[in-house]
Amino acid sequence: GLVNTREMFKRAINGGYAVPAFNFNNMEQLQAIIKASSELKSPVILQVSKGARNYANQTLLQYMAQGAVEYAKELGCAHPEIVLHLDHGDSFELCKSCVDMGFSSVMIDGSSLPYDENVALTKKVVEYAHAHDVTVEGELGVLAGVEDEVASEESHYTKPEEVIDFVTKTGVDSLAISIGTSHGAYKFKPEQCTLDPETGRLVPPPLAFDILDEIMQKLPGFPIVLHGSSSVPQEYVDIINQYGGKLPNAVGIPEEQLRKASESAVCKINIDSDSRLAFTAAVRKTLAEKPAEFDPRKYCGPARDLMEEMYRHKITEVLGSDNKL
Ligand code: G3H
Ligand code: 13P
Ligand code: NA
Ligand code: ZN
Repeated sequence: GLVNTREMFKRAINGGYAVPAFNFNNMEQLQAIIKASSELKSPVILQVSKGARNYANQTLLQYMAQGAVEYAKELGCAHPEIVLHLDHGDSFELCKSCVDMGFSSVMIDGSSLPYDENVALTKKVVEYAHAHDVTVEGELGVLAGVEDEVASEESHYTKPEEVIDFVTKTGVDSLAISIGTSHGAYKFKPEQCTLDPETGRLVPPPLAFDILDEIMQKLPGFPIVLHGSSSVPQEYVDIINQYGGKLPNAVGIPEEQLRKASESAVCKINIDSDSRLAFTAAVRKTLAEKPAEFDPRKYCGPARDLMEEMYRHKITEVLGSDNKL
């Protein structure tokens, strides 16, 4: 069945890699995630956001994730390790509903609340979840841009002086931090970037690895999570723009920096936008090249293939989670 993150994160920290946390809203994403992760023998976290739940129905998503464990075995993965995780839970009730329904992990995101309220809410979720053997991710610090419905003009890096108090008081199993990543396909404004003279591409500013180091010193061996970690591959952006799309100045986190983070106590890296970009690039290209197609399988199939290729690349070349089962 589904597993929680406890043993998975211990092994990831000791092994110097990160477990991929991929969001899913539909069957094609799920198939691509499971095919890539099980054939590469990688643990994987399937993330469901509140938006995904509203789009695809929590019950359906729950059964799809359970079915994914069987699908992984059919693909030849004898011992799949698959987590079903609530992404950005914003209330005790939502987290409880996911625990009750069989999710194996939940995030309670109280990062936009005053510190004491974040502690109290997170602690309440931990008490309920742990009684059901479900692991909990909390968050300190605010990511730039749109964090679900909470918009914040600039990011507020995690304060290293708060992390010991937070994990001690709440009992969380992992901590999401803010060190310069953000959600979506526009992670930095062009004026925050420099220009690569050879490629003409935007080069984003580096993540705050000094803050990550300080946090890791305060919490030795404690599982750290990075949200907003899509790299926004320019090849997908180019295809989208070439076939009628409009994504000017889309920019993500360079994979080099995610590779470096993966080798540290960062043991969960969240990727959603890259999957959306791959899906959209393949659909736009296919429909433009084959205007007579109207069977969704003919354009969702190539989208699924391109997402699978992207997931494989993340697992083998960025997070290093292959051959860990
Ligand atoms: O954190 C945001 C995730 O990418 C989920 O996005 O709320 O649009 O499903 P969503
Ligand atoms: P991206 O938008 O960078 O893919 O981040 C996804 C995420 O953090 C989901 O919680
Ligand atoms: Na790691
Ligand atoms: Zn997130």
